[in-house]
Amino acid sequence: MRSLSVVLNPLLLLLIGSCPPTATVGPQEGWQVYSSAQDPDGRCVCTVVAPEQSLCSRDAKGRHLRQLLEKVQNMSQSIEVLNLRTQRDFQYIMRMENQIKGLRSKFRQVESDRRTLVNKNFQELKGRMASLQPLIPVLEQYKTDTRLISQFREEIRNLSAVLTGLQEELGAHDYEELQLQVLNLETRLHRCMNKLTCGKLMKISGPLTVKTSGTRFGAWMSDPQEPLQRVWYMDSYTNNRIVKEFKSLSDFVAGVESKTYNLPFKWAGTNHVVFNGSLYYNKMQSNIVVRYSLESGRVVTQRALESAGFHNVYPYTWGGFSDIDLMSDELGLWAVYATNQNAGNIVISQLNPDTLQILKTWNTEYSKRNAGESFMICGTLYITNSHLTGAKVYYAYSTRTSTYEYMDIPFHNPYFHLSMLDYNSRERVLYGWNNGHQVLFNVTLFHVIRTQDES
Ligand SMILES: *[C@@H]1O[C@H](CO)[C@@H](O)[C@H](O)[C@H]1NC(C)=O
Ligand SMILES: *[C@@H]1O[C@H](CO)[C@@H](O)[C@H](O)[C@H]1NC(C)=O
Ligand SMILES: *[C@@H]1O[C@H](CO)[C@@H](O)[C@H](O)[C@H]1NC(C)=O
Ligand SMILES: *[C@@H]1O[C@H](CO)[C@@H](O)[C@H](O)[C@H]1NC(C)=O
Repeated sequence: MRSLSVVLNPLLLLLIGSCPPTATVGPQEGWQVYSSAQDPDGRCVCTVVAPEQSLCSRDAKGRHLRQLLEKVQNMSQSIEVLNLRTQRDFQYIMRMENQIKGLRSKFRQVESDRRTLVNKNFQELKGRMASLQPLIPVLEQYKTDTRLISQFREEIRNLSAVLTGLQEELGAHDYEELQLQVLNLETRLHRCMNKLTCGKLMKISGPLTVKTSGTRFGAWMSDPQEPLQRVWYMDSYTNNRIVKEFKSLSDFVAGVESKTYNLPFKWAGTNHVVFNGSLYYNKMQSNIVVRYSLESGRVVTQRALESAGFHNVYPYTWGGFSDIDLMSDELGLWAVYATNQNAGNIVISQLNPDTLQILKTWNTEYSKRNAGESFMICGTLYITNSHLTGAKVYYAYSTRTSTYEYMDIPFHNPYFHLSMLDYNSRERVLYGWNNGHQVLFNVTLFHVIRTQDES
């Protein structure tokens, strides 16, 4: 049997049952999903908040939805709500985990003593299934996954039917298979939730100072596609070609290096990224992006980013040849730079990670030289307004809708100068290089799922 702690990754928190279960109105309106960073095992903490009880009547529904939307638009208000909830909800997570652990031991009991415990256990299994039911409408909002989800719903219904049948004729079924079905459903539910929690940046907390090392400017990172947590370290923004590798974050903290790479070309800036086993970086004094395989220790691909400014033509506010910023998120690999054609404003290109060919390009109206840093989360580029103390996330450009908005998300910059800030989608943190300190920020994302009957 698979370990539940793996299956339940990410951890799922449900706050269900605000509406009475007998209500004729479905529970689907106004679901809110919050997700925030995880514990050291990479588990995602996900909060699903059901609609409030007082708003369960049809009449109140429209009003409630409007209020919800207003809430989303009002960032500072939502942040306060979020702050309260994340703290309060931690208890629920623990309780949920205990319930799930309990379920596992119940299954063991079923296996060891079928006759006496069977009925009781199936009641509990049914309860578990029932608790999954309210999530189905939430998941259904995800149009891209509709096929999967309707199959999912059918399976849950089928399984519920099987369980109902089982109450009448005990012993007719293979318990182990049933157990596997439940586990399988849960795994997939959580995978859906993981996707679902791709949302809008709400809050940046921290940072945690992991280490103090190197010069004032540099980069460090891990690979979001890799389950091991190797760390790569690239000190300085120019005239260097030495990449240090550490087997884990704790090795990095302890200074236990596992490997050194001597790149064939020096890099420019601090905006490199390791993605799916390759290091992507900007070759010094050029607009060439280099893909270096960490496994073979060879350059696999090189390609010029046509018309991208380089060598301090369009750097971030701090300079440092930070013209070309390579980054990754849930959707893949990206390059952020500026061109003369776009009047020095930021251009976003999604890259094919193998060939480095540009898949698609978006032009923003934000001047690259006025940007402190930028990072991509779920296909949205977030831009800070400075590399100095008091900086905030100021502008966001969604590649999904090709629209921008101004925002105001402050973050703490304890060491004055920030020369790198990049998102890791697996760990859901921002890696930062803060004046010779390697820091990590937690991010909190927010998602509201809109219902069909919303006008
Ligand atoms: C937005 O937030 C501000 C500050 O918290 C508050 O004064 C205002 O009433 C909120 N607006 C709405 C529409 O909720
Ligand atoms: C659910 O049950 C129906 C009828 O028994 C069956 O045709 C269908 O394939 C089942 N669906 C799934 C996803 O197991
Ligand atoms: C990662 O690399 C493997 C082969 O090395 C490839 O099969 C896979 O599609 C890549 N994943 C992404 C997200 O590019
Ligand atoms: C992020 O939040 C988690 C859970 O609250 C905490 O354990 C972790 O230390 C935080 N990480 C950082 C980098 O602040």
